[in-house]
Amino acid sequence: MPNNPKSLAILEHNRRFIPGGVVSINRHIAPELVFVRGMGSRLFDADGNSYIDYHGAFAPHFLGHNDPYVTEAVVRVLRDGASLYGSGTTTLEGRLAELMCQAVPWIESVQLLNTGSEATYQALRLARAVTGRDHIVVMQGGYNGWHNDVACNLMTPLAALGPRVSPGEYPFLPISSGIPEAHRTLVHPVNFNDLDSVAHVCERYPVAGLITEPVLQNIGVVHPKPGYLDGLRKLADKHGFVLIFDEVKTGFRHAPGGYASIAGVTPDVAVYGKALANGYPMAAIAGKRDLMNWFAHPEASKRVLLAGTYNAHPVPTAAAIATVERLLENGGEVYRRVEGLGQRIEAGLRAELDRAGVRSVIARQGSAFCVYFMDHAPVDWHDLASHHDAALDEKLRRELIERGIYWFPLQTKQCSISAAHSEADIDRTVAAFGESLKTV
Ligand SMILES: Cc1ncc(COP(=O)(O)O)c(C=O)c1O
Repeated sequence: MPNNPKSLAILEHNRRFIPGGVVSINRHIAPELVFVRGMGSRLFDADGNSYIDYHGAFAPHFLGHNDPYVTEAVVRVLRDGASLYGSGTTTLEGRLAELMCQAVPWIESVQLLNTGSEATYQALRLARAVTGRDHIVVMQGGYNGWHNDVACNLMTPLAALGPRVSPGEYPFLPISSGIPEAHRTLVHPVNFNDLDSVAHVCERYPVAGLITEPVLQNIGVVHPKPGYLDGLRKLADKHGFVLIFDEVKTGFRHAPGGYASIAGVTPDVAVYGKALANGYPMAAIAGKRDLMNWFAHPEASKRVLLAGTYNAHPVPTAAAIATVERLLENGGEVYRRVEGLGQRIEAGLRAELDRAGVRSVIARQGSAFCVYFMDHAPVDWHDLASHHDAALDEKLRRELIERGIYWFPLQTKQCSISAAHSEADIDRTVAAFGESLKTV
C-alpha cells in the first residue's frame, strides 16, 4: 500500500460534502489515492508518490495527460475571448465536425455532445425514431453509459447471470437502482460474438437498434470473432434495425476511422467520446446524412430532440480539434508509435508470465491491453467470468501500484498506453510486473 495519509485526509474531508466522498462511485477504489497532477504518462498523488499511468482516466488520454498541443489550443481560445453563446452555430463546431468527417471516411454528418452516455442515449432515440420500434439489443459485458436503457449486465456475477444461454437473451440485470420496470422489458442483453442470439431476439421483438462496442473494452479487450461484426451488419439489413457502434472507447484511439475502419464494417450510426478530445468532455454521434438529418427533421413531430446548454463548448471543442489534428499528423504516425509500445509491453509481459509459469493470455488492440488469467482469450463475459482468476488479477494490480505502476485495481479493467509513454516506461513496467508476479 503506498504511503497515503494526505490522500485519506482529503477523502475524509470530501465525505462530509459528497456521498462516498467521490463524484462517480466507480472511482472509489482501494488503495485510496488522491491524484493531484497528471503529466504525460505520469500521475502524482497528494502524498508525493508518482506512478506510470495505465488507467488513463478510463481511457481518454490517448496523447497523454496535459498534451502541450491540446493545452495550447485550449488556452488560445480562452485568450481569444471565445465563450458559450447558446445561439447560432460556431466556426469551432463546424471545424470539428468537418475534421471528424475527414478522419472517419464513412460518416457524413456529426452532432456534438458532452459525454458518451449522452451520445449513446441519442443514438438509441434516433434508432427508435427512424424505425418506429422500441426494443433494443445490448451486449452482456458491454458498457454504453449510465442511462436507463443500457445500465445493465456489466460484469454481472455468474450467480446472478445463471447458465450460459444461446440462442437467447439474459434477463435485464440493472447496475443501478431506479430503472423503471417498463424500460427493462424493452432491452435484450445477449452474448457478444453470438449472432444466433441476435437473430433469436429479432424474430421475437420489433428491434429498433442494436448497440455494441465493436471490441468490448469495459471487461478488458474482448475481440469480435472474424465475421461477427459483418454478421451484425447483415442482420441489421435483414431485420431493419439500426446498427450502432459504440466507439466511445475505440474511436480515434485505434485508428482515425475507429474500429469500424479496422474491421471494414460500416454501422448506421457511431458514437465517439474519450480519445476524441484527449480528456476534455466532448462526445459525438455521427452517421450518414439521411439518418443524422432526423436531428433537424423538417416535420417537428419526427424531429429527434438533441439539445444541451454546453454542447460544443469552446474549451472541449478546441481540445478536440487539436487532438484530431495531432492524430492525423504525419499520416497517423502516432498510431504506429503506440502500436510499437503495445508490442513491446505485450512481449515483455508474456515473457514474465512464461517465466513464472502462469496460465494466462494477453489480449491487445493497439494501445489497449488486458492480461487474463485463463487459458484462452475470452469471447464474451460469460466465458470470462467462468474462467478468469479475478482474485489473482486484483492482487497483481495492487502489487503493481506498490511499485509505482497504476493499473486500475479492479479485475479485467483495461490498461491504456498513451503516446506520451516511453520505451523506458514500458521496460520499467515489465520489470515491476515480473517482481509482482513473484510476490503473488
Ligand atoms: C464504450 C463506452 N460507451 C459509453 C461510455 C459512457 O461515456 P461517459 O462516461 O462519457 O458518459 C463509456 C464510458 O466508459 C464507454 O466505455
